[in-house]
Amino acid sequence: MVNYDVIIIGTGPGGYVCAIRCAQLGLKTACVEGRNTLGGTCLNVGCIPSKALLHASELFHESNHNFKNMGIEVKNPAINWKEMLSYKDNIVNQNTKGIEFLFKKNKIDIIKGWGKIQGPGKVSVDSKTYDCKSIIIATGSEPSALGDLKVDEKKVVTSTGALTLGEIPEEIAIVGAGVIGLELGSVYSRLGSKVTVIEYLDEITPGLDLETAKTFRRILGKQGIKFILGAAVQSAKKSGSKQIIEYQLIKDKSNEKLEADVILVATGRKPFTEGLNLNGAGIEVNHYGQIKTDENLQTNVEGVYAIGDVIAGPMLAHKAEDEGIALAEMLAGQAGHVNYDLIPGVIYTSPEVATVGKTEEELKKEQLAYKAGKFSFIGNGRAKASLATDGYAKILTDANTDRILGGHIIGPSAGDLIHEICVAMEFGASAEDVARTCHAHPTFSEAIREAALACGDGPIHA
Ligand code: NAI
Repeated sequence: MVNYDVIIIGTGPGGYVCAIRCAQLGLKTACVEGRNTLGGTCLNVGCIPSKALLHASELFHESNHNFKNMGIEVKNPAINWKEMLSYKDNIVNQNTKGIEFLFKKNKIDIIKGWGKIQGPGKVSVDSKTYDCKSIIIATGSEPSALGDLKVDEKKVVTSTGALTLGEIPEEIAIVGAGVIGLELGSVYSRLGSKVTVIEYLDEITPGLDLETAKTFRRILGKQGIKFILGAAVQSAKKSGSKQIIEYQLIKDKSNEKLEADVILVATGRKPFTEGLNLNGAGIEVNHYGQIKTDENLQTNVEGVYAIGDVIAGPMLAHKAEDEGIALAEMLAGQAGHVNYDLIPGVIYTSPEVATVGKTEEELKKEQLAYKAGKFSFIGNGRAKASLATDGYAKILTDANTDRILGGHIIGPSAGDLIHEICVAMEFGASAEDVARTCHAHPTFSEAIREAALACGDGPIHA
């Protein structure tokens, strides 16, 4: 039997990226995966399939709304839902096969089945036990349950079921105005469903820069999504072919009902650790069920590490990837590092929302003197030509040093544009550094430069 340097449990973005980096650094590596395909939640039932549906539904929406404004005549665009789902499945397939190829290329062994930790250096899968120097837990997360709402993944669904609905629902009720609720809400709204989002808090997207969250809600509202804020969903029941969702308004404790064909429960995710034998192996978790790790991503058991959604921090694929790379480098004797202050967040709606660093609310709380430079896409020539002028770019700087402390963008290609601010922040740049950098015209990125100018003497086009 092979003695591995590293056995990684889970092949999501954390696990598979970590495996490739381990292999690049000369470590004999194996990955344990219980699903039939590699790639974890992100590739199979998360980021990738949802982006396929976001893309298709956006084009459908454009064809119905903006094409005629650009002089393109398309007669009655219609959706073939079965075809759209198979386009999505095909994209997933290409991606999961792509990881298989990368594993072969890097000589990473795949052990099929669900891994169980028997103790330091010992992982069993079915009846076989494998030996290694280091074990890495990268088992990700799963949707949290909500009260007595029984998920059947057909009529009461999590994000998984929402990606494979039998038909486009006439009415969909979404519990939770977080990232999943709004991305999938946008998909179905664009495909013609009547979408109502019920959110416990007074504003959508908790933790997002407040001005950006309010702007985002207004834009989604204009697109036809209805919001019920300050409302706690408690239960749901079936009534014929309909679902009745029951919620309580927090302001006056009144009980209300909403009827829908499908309910999407998007109230957060929790670490997925079932079957790992954490207790038996003596691995500690915190009160959220997240595996406790130190600054080297090591658990309380020597030689057992954990990365990604299963530990504390934002549940984001790219955070897991960065931890995977850093850990592989540390195991190979290098100085791996993750800059947790600079993890961007992107919501892939239309327009996209992207954010990095501090929000205005955080800076106010820290009583830091800051400047906010903002530039609306209405002043950006490329956005005008694309009929995509909703939103703005906002840069927050230290009022004394001009150093960039945060960036918040809502608008076209925000998810790509944010990386200019990420790189600038990684290098400790000032807003003036960004403003003095030549930006090609006409591009959406000019809005970033204008926002940087707005932190100084003022933008040119506003
Ligand atoms: P979330 O934590 O982002 O949002 C959940 C929302 O549900 C919150 O606003 C919360 O106040 C609300 N809520 C909770 N209980 C409720 C109740 N009983 N009634 C009404 N509202 C209630 O969780 P979400 O959207 O499920 O996403 C899970 C994780 O997946 C997040 O960490 C997210 O960052 C990640 N994700 C990231 C994506 C991206 O980066 N584009 C895409 C999809 C998921």
